[in-house]
Amino acid sequence: MAGEIIDGRGISLKVRAEVKDIVQRRTAAGHRAPGLATVLVGEDPASHVYVRNKRKAAEKCGIISLHHELDAATSEKALLALIDELNTRDDVDGILVQLPLPAHIDEGKVIRAIDPDKDVDGFHPENVARLSLGFEGFVPCTPKGCLRLLREMDTTFEGAHAVVVGRSNIVGKPMAQLLLAENCTVTICHSRTRDMPSVTRLADILVVAVGRAHMIGAEHIKPGAVVIDVGINRGEDGKLRGDVDTEAALTVARAVTPVPKGVGPMTIAMLMHNTQVAHARRLGLAEQEAAS
Ligand code: GUN
Repeated sequence: MAGEIIDGRGISLKVRAEVKDIVQRRTAAGHRAPGLATVLVGEDPASHVYVRNKRKAAEKCGIISLHHELDAATSEKALLALIDELNTRDDVDGILVQLPLPAHIDEGKVIRAIDPDKDVDGFHPENVARLSLGFEGFVPCTPKGCLRLLREMDTTFEGAHAVVVGRSNIVGKPMAQLLLAENCTVTICHSRTRDMPSVTRLADILVVAVGRAHMIGAEHIKPGAVVIDVGINRGEDGKLRGDVDTEAALTVARAVTPVPKGVGPMTIAMLMHNTQVAHARRLGLAEQEAAS
């Protein structure tokens, strides 16, 4: 039996087209365009690529991209002052501070300084609390993108066993919350889990976000499961590999996301979605959650 490869790239373009359409209708009705402020501190090459892609996507959706690039020696105080300014600006709906930050800056302090209503990354403790309490807020883009992929694959959530491998604040924990809110039975596995294959083999839905190339093989997967691979690992040969051995997984699963062109493009698409939602809320418009 051969499983299906989930077309993350195609689905991400669909989400971005939805956002573009929503933004166009809003500006045609006389509202200002949404604004997304990106803040990049230091020289990390991967962060530069990610932020460039986020800015390009924003512009293609009709979102105004305001970019601040600060050198690696920028003080925490200067960064906090910039965030304060972005918090008060009327034309800024979303603020994204690209992580990781240089070691001399306290990441938690920076995240807590962002206005929770502009926190399109969903990292502020207020938004983390809102997600766990089931209140309206912002959900981190990567797990939100994973949920959208599962929906697009017509996955049954109600009563399904979902196993999340990885317990990061950015992916694993919010992913587990989202699946719980969909009425899944949720298990979280991590580095101390005993006999991981015996746990992951129970999963109708398996989401893997660890950062270890090909750590999940056919022996971890229940026949017919849907597998979402969040890992992006660059091998010594320069090739990108997921946390899941895609070829092996496809022999057992109903559907698997590839790496690249799986979850990656969804993260950016959901950032666009969160930004249009922030814009709607700040303008007091009825929210358009078409891409949720
Ligand atoms: N670094 C890695 N992933 C992310 C993300 O989703 N948002 C931000 N701001 N930084 C990141």
